[in-house]
Amino acid sequence: MVYYCGTPVGTIAANDPTDGHPLNYDQVFIRDFIPSAIAFLLKGETDIVRNFLLHTLQLQSWEKTVDCYNPGQGLMPASFKVRTVPLEGDPANGTEEVLDPDFGEAAIGRVAPVDSGLWWIILLRAYGKSTGDYTLQERVDVQTGMKMILKLCLADGFDMFPTLLVTDGSCMIDRRMGIHGHPLEIQALFYSALRCAREMLISEDSALDLIRTLTSRLSALSFHIREYYWVDMGKLNEIYRYKTEEYSHEAVNKFNIYPDHLSPWLVDWIPNKGGYLVGNLQPAHMDFRFFSLGNLWAIVSSLATPEQAEGILDLIEARWVDFVGNMPMKICYPALQGEEWRIITGSDPKNTPWSYHNGGSWPTLLWQLTVACIKMGRPEMAERAIEVAEKRISRDRWPEYYDTRAARFVGKQARLYQTWSIAGYLVAKMLLDKPDAVKILTCEEDLALLEAMSCSLDANPRIKRKRKLKSTRIIV
Ligand code: GLC
Repeated sequence: MVYYCGTPVGTIAANDPTDGHPLNYDQVFIRDFIPSAIAFLLKGETDIVRNFLLHTLQLQSWEKTVDCYNPGQGLMPASFKVRTVPLEGDPANGTEEVLDPDFGEAAIGRVAPVDSGLWWIILLRAYGKSTGDYTLQERVDVQTGMKMILKLCLADGFDMFPTLLVTDGSCMIDRRMGIHGHPLEIQALFYSALRCAREMLISEDSALDLIRTLTSRLSALSFHIREYYWVDMGKLNEIYRYKTEEYSHEAVNKFNIYPDHLSPWLVDWIPNKGGYLVGNLQPAHMDFRFFSLGNLWAIVSSLATPEQAEGILDLIEARWVDFVGNMPMKICYPALQGEEWRIITGSDPKNTPWSYHNGGSWPTLLWQLTVACIKMGRPEMAERAIEVAEKRISRDRWPEYYDTRAARFVGKQARLYQTWSIAGYLVAKMLLDKPDAVKILTCEEDLALLEAMSCSLDANPRIKRKRKLKSTRIIV
């Protein structure tokens, strides 16, 4: 537990007594604290979550500098710690505690913590729903903080798509793994945060424009992801037979994906039943890797259609050994190997095949898996995964991650007593006991958003409604 001026404000990332070099694992990471926060909410110990939300809110408006450059207002730090400093620079005057955030200026690789602000909004809504105390989210400073995060995300750029354009390493995978562009994890958290913010923003005159922008972005984002990121047996067969170089508004192969780009491993691996959202989409490039957090959060937030959400769980069930193996759950599948590993990771020795971010297994993902399974009425799947974890996680001293294809070894450089491994397990167990509580995190299918999407497609004579029947069925 980390205290600031006598009150708890968060938990450190890992507390391994045998580790003399904790690097930055002695800090409160925003993303790592989320499962702890949910556990505290479920236990009714809500003050720490309130403190965390308010203190991180202050950090957001700090002046930040990375090598003379000032990143945008509204950016939330990846992590922070509490430092004790001499008053007015002189120890004779006594000491005071200060919060010391890291916005990426000290992080390995100087990565941008894009997910932090999105998680902050998601947690703010969970706090309100769980405590029934909506005064926190209604406070002027909290409303302003939320708007600052949203403005940063919704700012115009060179984007052609409603997805958020980010650099590599801007989320849980916080180092080079070839996920720059429009990675699924960020899109799922973005969608989720927009849905949560729409519920919480007070609709006064000054917020109306923002609410309008946010609502139309939600429609466009869900259309884009549902339509272009989804793959299953049928869609892969379509890609396999794609025509290319189509210049027109009517193009079927809009991103000019060449059939040869279809990953060979996928052809045998994709089950007849089930599918998933691909990791990323760019011109002539679909990253076919399966990223767990993005897919699970697409279920939780209803970014995926109900059918797609079922399909993702069907796929996890059908490929259980690949996803769960000896420890839930693989962060992405499959691992990058050989030349691909060398070029894409920059020869990263921590991200060798089936290790760490490159196909390693992270126990913390158990909680997101559990929320998704409960939401879809399939809690027994989460129970099975928890049973697998229980066989060794405590005996192994709560590692940060596991290595090898079937998650048989404790990760080569894994920290022990990793807080979110413990909290993830606890939240999974608590939610199975109180399945109704997942509602503090989930969003249901929003028919108004679907309708808005359908109307804007119909109003545009240049858009060919290839799948008209399918969309109509969803709306009905
Ligand atoms: C690693 C993880 C990151 C996490 C941090 C602290 O860098 O990739 O997601 O926040 O460790 O645990």
